[in-house]
Amino acid sequence: MSEQWTPASWRTKKAIQMPNYPDQAVLDEVEQRIGNFPPLVFAGEARKLKSKLADVAQGKAFLLQGGDCAESFAEFHPDNIRDTFRVLLQMAIVLTYGAALPVVKVGRMAGQFAKPRSADTETIDGVELPSYRGDMVNGMEFTEKARIPDPERLVQAFNQSAATLNLLRAFASGGFADLHKVQRWNLGFVKDSPFGERYRDMAVRIQESLDFMAACGMNSQTTKHIRETSFFTSHEALLLNYEQSMTRVDSLTDEWYDTSAHMLWIGERTRQLDGAHIEFLKGVGNPVGCKVGPSMEPDELIRLIDALNPDNEAGRLTLITRMGADKIGNILPGLIRAVQREGRHVVWSCDPMHSNTVKSSSGYKTRHVDAILAEVKAFFQVHKSEGSHAGGVHFEMTGQDVTECVGGGQEIKDADLSLRYHTHCDPRLNATQALELAFLLAEQLKEERMAKEVGVVG
Ligand code: PEP
Ligand code: CO
Repeated sequence: MSEQWTPASWRTKKAIQMPNYPDQAVLDEVEQRIGNFPPLVFAGEARKLKSKLADVAQGKAFLLQGGDCAESFAEFHPDNIRDTFRVLLQMAIVLTYGAALPVVKVGRMAGQFAKPRSADTETIDGVELPSYRGDMVNGMEFTEKARIPDPERLVQAFNQSAATLNLLRAFASGGFADLHKVQRWNLGFVKDSPFGERYRDMAVRIQESLDFMAACGMNSQTTKHIRETSFFTSHEALLLNYEQSMTRVDSLTDEWYDTSAHMLWIGERTRQLDGAHIEFLKGVGNPVGCKVGPSMEPDELIRLIDALNPDNEAGRLTLITRMGADKIGNILPGLIRAVQREGRHVVWSCDPMHSNTVKSSSGYKTRHVDAILAEVKAFFQVHKSEGSHAGGVHFEMTGQDVTECVGGGQEIKDADLSLRYHTHCDPRLNATQALELAFLLAEQLKEERMAKEVGVVG
């Protein structure tokens, strides 16, 4: 542990899932150029998120982290950003209202472009090409040329992230997120679903509360919390050369921050204790996350926590478990017990997507909404039994009316998948399915709260 951390020290470790660029000199030049770009976020904002996550770790708030599996250059459009943001707001309000708990909103947005892949190559009709690794690396098109990693894509991803973040900031503080607009966040196609109706009923009750508060003198003009919301960005820190280029010393604290997003996480495939990804995130002051899949052992988890959060700072580390609906009940209790035994402060978040991916009979990669909801329910159940806080969820969704996940209240069938299957990577919840998840979460959180109150009284 005597080696000195620097933004480049990850280069001495094994870095997997990173592209092989054909021309090192071009890559070096691009990295240097990005190193001179302005930061996307300010270190003070990352610290603000960390303090909100500390509240989550202490059971006083809930983390809602969602967005695209992979953002894309082709689908870069203000309507897409607005619709994803709008659904996240809807989900947050369902949770805040239903569970009376502050919700920390973090988008998988404005930087979520690079994808780890299970296989290095893809074969179609006997032709083998390098895998698509996200628009930040290469093109999705199945041609030799498109699949060559291109460093200029790092610059394009930066530019798209900057423009996306600019719009998100404007939405969050410019009036779009004003609580008086809750009814208007209900999108056309969602409005007609049973979840849309349930949402509308809730919006009416919120409006009544706002009218009451206005009569007491609290309105959008007088009260910032009614007028504005806070929204943070996150992505998987996969391309460490990009992350390094965006890492700067904060002038207020003299600490290093990765200014590409407020929060960064390490994926299931790159969380080796002696690997480059852990090495890089060790040294930045941002709140960080790490995926925790079903192969994780309790001892290994404690070593991972020690590596990423040696000072045991609440809010610094979010463990994003992704076990699968059928495995979570067997594996999660042992991990929670180890963390409790060692007195470690973490946020426990549930990613109910990545271990519930299946191939449909029609050949599409899909997920059953029922399995997603089952993993979430089991997550709450286990935390309740272990006496810990089910702190948040991490999920893939879009504000569009896609048909990528089957089942759920909308009863999308295998045969419907081809109708609007638009994802560049994994199947996402559509807006209606995301709202369905939000109502389930609100119920679970309400139960958690009631159980606590009974515990306190009894
Ligand atoms: C992801 O979150 O998009 C992802 C690839 O997840 P995981 O690392 O858990 O497989
Ligand atoms: Co994914």
